[in-house]
Amino acid sequence: MDKKRFYITTPIYYPSAKLHIGHAYCTVLSDVFARYKRMRGFECFFLTGADEHGQKIEKNAAAAGKTPQQFVDEIVEGFYKLWNLLEISNDDFIRTTQERHWKVVQDIFTKMLKNDDIYLGEYEGWYCTPCEAFWTETQVGPDHICPDCGRPVQKAKEEAYFFKTKKYVDSLLKFYDENPQFLTPESRKNEMINTFIKPGLDDLCISRTSFKWGVPIRENDRHVIYVWLDALTNYITALGYGSKDESLFKKFWEDPECEVIHILGADITRFHAIYWPMFLESLGLRKPDREFIHGLLMMRDSKMSKSKGNVVDPYPLVERYGVDAVRYYLTREVTFGNDGSFTPEQFIERINLDLANSYGNLLNRTVSMINKYFDGIIPEYKGDVTPFDASLRMTAESVIKLYESSLDDLKITEAFVQVNELVSRANKYIDETEPWVLSKEGKIEELASVMNHLANAIFIASKLYEPVLVKASKGAFDQLGIPEDKRGYEAVYKFGNVQGYKVNKGNPLFPRLDANIEVPFIQELMNGKKD
Ligand code: MSP
Repeated sequence: MDKKRFYITTPIYYPSAKLHIGHAYCTVLSDVFARYKRMRGFECFFLTGADEHGQKIEKNAAAAGKTPQQFVDEIVEGFYKLWNLLEISNDDFIRTTQERHWKVVQDIFTKMLKNDDIYLGEYEGWYCTPCEAFWTETQVGPDHICPDCGRPVQKAKEEAYFFKTKKYVDSLLKFYDENPQFLTPESRKNEMINTFIKPGLDDLCISRTSFKWGVPIRENDRHVIYVWLDALTNYITALGYGSKDESLFKKFWEDPECEVIHILGADITRFHAIYWPMFLESLGLRKPDREFIHGLLMMRDSKMSKSKGNVVDPYPLVERYGVDAVRYYLTREVTFGNDGSFTPEQFIERINLDLANSYGNLLNRTVSMINKYFDGIIPEYKGDVTPFDASLRMTAESVIKLYESSLDDLKITEAFVQVNELVSRANKYIDETEPWVLSKEGKIEELASVMNHLANAIFIASKLYEPVLVKASKGAFDQLGIPEDKRGYEAVYKFGNVQGYKVNKGNPLFPRLDANIEVPFIQELMNGKKD
């Protein structure tokens, strides 16, 4: 947390098909971290992108009657649209088909070859002749069937380059030991050690001759670089590593003052936690500070997949419920690091409970009362007039601390649970202080203090929500009449500062959703009856 800069990445997604809510989950969460760090004054670089090479893309393109480049161009257009819709604040978008990337990947290969980290050998796997695809033992299962077409596969060999993983195993284990923070959750590290490293790590195959859609190896262009060496290096090529201008690379990778964080799903842990640190060591570069492995979003216990017809498309959700509702649901519903499931019932309930009933309602009630009792002007702060005031203020102060420490430690769900606590505390404070009774009894000083404390608590909660609720937080500041230049993060440390402004009652930030209408609506979306 004491570092000055922050570099955060999402995995680069395969443009083999449209993205679904699982991809949105990873990108939204990374975006929340990036926005949080910027809000705290960090210089931040946030990267996402597309992993465009490989056999699957070559085949999907052929099936669609397109060249691979045309095919990925169209799908990647959809990525841009989705990230735009979800208000993703990435600073760059890397595509592995861009020259700035693939040329450097060729140089990286050459460098590793010169270091004697790569050798030419033979790759043996299960081959499906009609699909022209190699599969691993796990992919073909006990019946040795092609996972794509269902036909029998045969054992086959092809010439391939390999990366010498054994050379780097000891130093990887030492790195894990010396950097206990590197892999989160901790259980992932044990999984890597016990499942992959201890039984003996095979050298990693990094080239293929059975398809063409990839980065050709300069030294032997019958081969293309196999996707993971091509893909993982995006995290440095996007910063200009190995190019004429390495300024971003120096600033956001080499400089120890920059905290480097990769966010990724559990399905690709092995590549990031084992091979990526090895590649970096081979290149003589530092390793990331942290890799956070999030769980997968399932659909009622089964993995979201096109073939099962249970894919949730984020577009219509955002269109109907707004970007904030979808961002909030993704951030709050599933504890970061655990697997979770998407259900329409929980989606609607989460928005109703936290956003409509709790947060939106608090703002609405407060603005109405300030209008009613004080002609719309937020009363001046005079310290804590009653013990209830003190309790609300102290809750706000402790929530700020817990929020910051949670987010600095990548505990995103915990951070927003804290903000919910503050909002609930403020709602309870209204019940405790009974402003309508204070008004009736003419206790104006107490009433004024209650309104001021509420306005301040709402400001703080809205500011802390801001990395997630990118639109509603602004709506709340507008309704409280807070001038633009008074909305900075430092203001959360000065409880009482929100005073004297003229409130503007607006529409409810989150209208209550009728589950009887909305649950069937989302179910139809999931069954593909609506688009
Ligand atoms: N291209 C590789 C990544 C290379 S990174 C150097 C890849 N792409 S992917 O499109 O298949 O998926 C990437 C990531 O998307 C996963 O690691 C995960 O973060 C996210 N998700 C894909 N499906 C998901 C769910 N069902 N739930 C949550 N996240 C999901 O692998």
